[in-house]
Amino acid sequence: MTVLVTGGAGYIGSHTVRMLRDAGREVVVLDSLEMGHEEALLGAELVVGEIADFDLVTKLCRERRVTSVIHFAAYKSVGESMTDPFRYFSNNVGGSTTLIDAVVAAGVEQFVFSSSAAIYGSPARIPVTEDLDAHPESVYAETKWMIERVLSWIGETRGLRSVCLRYFNAAGASFDSRIGEDWSVTTNLVPIVMKAALGRRGPLEVFGNDYPTRDGTGERDYIHVVDLADGHVKALDYLDSGKPSLACNLGTGRGSTVLEVLAETARISGREVPHVFSPRRAGDPAIVFADPSLAARELGWTARHGIVEILQTAWTWHSTHIDGYGTGR
Ligand code: WQD
Repeated sequence: MTVLVTGGAGYIGSHTVRMLRDAGREVVVLDSLEMGHEEALLGAELVVGEIADFDLVTKLCRERRVTSVIHFAAYKSVGESMTDPFRYFSNNVGGSTTLIDAVVAAGVEQFVFSSSAAIYGSPARIPVTEDLDAHPESVYAETKWMIERVLSWIGETRGLRSVCLRYFNAAGASFDSRIGEDWSVTTNLVPIVMKAALGRRGPLEVFGNDYPTRDGTGERDYIHVVDLADGHVKALDYLDSGKPSLACNLGTGRGSTVLEVLAETARISGREVPHVFSPRRAGDPAIVFADPSLAARELGWTARHGIVEILQTAWTWHSTHIDGYGTGR
């Protein structure tokens, strides 16, 4: 009954590994440590290797009697995917396809996939529901959608049951501040805001303040990383109960604007966040937030934390781990 977690030494992966172990699950992590940190595993079993190593994966699954896989390992920068598309298709699609081939060959029948709300592109409707057509607007988003399609076909031809979890904007850190996000490997808003507030970078660039939103700045559905981890545990329970394959949103159903994030961060930290207004970023929709009702109905999952806890835990993590792992103060 072991769970194989790929990319378990990464941001969302490490929070999920911790929650699985706290729930008494047997876990083994496969991570290349290219982006992840062994310190984030808090002692969980780690095999350092590549998801594309067919023989390593089949051997690991057979030896450790793996019955389920949670697959996080992927490159995740939207911008980088557009400047280096082959790196993204090779790793996120080629690597993931080999991983799926290997785990099926080893007899694994349950698979949870780290997908993304980015597959919707600029959503045709808000709040976003799972029946919306996929319109990926970046190579990164395309790679996530492609693996959703691979999983659907492998479900039909090999009987692999899967849950694809479409994350909205993951943010925050563990409540005891033992693990959190490595701001050196992300371009997302919250870690950048914390870095600016701590004076570890120049002012935040606010990408556009002329959007049709409450205050003119972009609005997103920020979801606490601990809530995301809980969604993965519940997805495993769902598959363990024999239920059919599913794709569902993991979001709060509420949006926050960039200026609201800045104001709340200033209140929490007692520091103004240096920022300047810049032109809109290409490809940014004005407003994106989830309709999370399918996950509530099918997984029994709802987000329990809001933007305040997200920013409180992010601030505590970054302000006490100024250079990330290995140098807590
Ligand atoms: C959030 C808001 C920006 C940075 C992407 C991926 C998605 C998911 C999350 C992986 C927007 C604004 C940001 C900055 C800013 N990743 N912003 N200045 O673009 O909503 O989603 O990351 O799954 O797949 O598409 O996240 O954090 O980049 O932006 O003003 O320096 O913050 O315009 O309104 P995004 P983000």
